[in-house]
Amino acid sequence: MPENRRITVAVTGAGGVGVSKRLLAALQDDDRVTHVDLLVSANGRKLVALEFGTQEDRDSVAQALGATSPKVRLLDPADLAGPVTSGSYPYDAMVILPCAAGVLGRIAHGLALDLIERAADVALKERRRLVLCLRETPLNLAHLRNMVSVTEAGAIVFPMIPTYYNAPETLAELQDEFAERVLQLLGLQRTDRYRWDGESTPARREHTGTP
Ligand SMILES: Cc1cc2nc3c(=O)[nH]c(=O)nc-3n(C[C@H](O)[C@H](O)[C@H](O)COP(=O)(O)O)c2cc1C
Repeated sequence: MPENRRITVAVTGAGGVGVSKRLLAALQDDDRVTHVDLLVSANGRKLVALEFGTQEDRDSVAQALGATSPKVRLLDPADLAGPVTSGSYPYDAMVILPCAAGVLGRIAHGLALDLIERAADVALKERRRLVLCLRETPLNLAHLRNMVSVTEAGAIVFPMIPTYYNAPETLAELQDEFAERVLQLLGLQRTDRYRWDGESTPARREHTGTP
């Protein structure tokens, strides 16, 4: 397993910031991760305020996301001179979770209008892992084309579509499993989590009536 991992996490203006919180908790708990740069866009802060019922200011948002470990450094997305703006700054992987369709589009076209998009641009040019957790549905043709473009450029599009075969009973379980899949893509798999082994199915809840 790789050690001393440095991860960049961005939260943009789309639903599902509960998963961002779970991912951040896992990264903070993981001894293999030594540093996390966290960027929350202005609309991301709006979404955190909406989904957690908190204020939109930087400190309240960081608190709501549980980004409390000294490992986590909160960066200003408006500051295009921030550390992650350069390929010379070391980070191993970047995840945008949730990734709004507009952000996907701007990354697909290399626009880099803020530090989040610039860091994604850098990840692509440096051939580092970039995971885009798109949260949009249904998808229009521009979204689909942009997904093709970023995939061709080297990113992984990992839409915020949950898994069901692990039979999650609560939103928390569903979100945890999604975060787990993202951790796998970041090379931070945790061995204590459910994994399909080709034979056994998880216990189905009797009351669901699902086949
Ligand atoms: C309350 C709210 C919810 C939103 N939800 C989504 C969403 O689920 N998916 C999406 O692609 N955009 C959504 N948007 C639009 C994006 O926030 C917008 O396109 C924005 O430009 C994204 O980039 P930003 O986070 O860098 O501002 C939402 C906006 C607001 C205000």
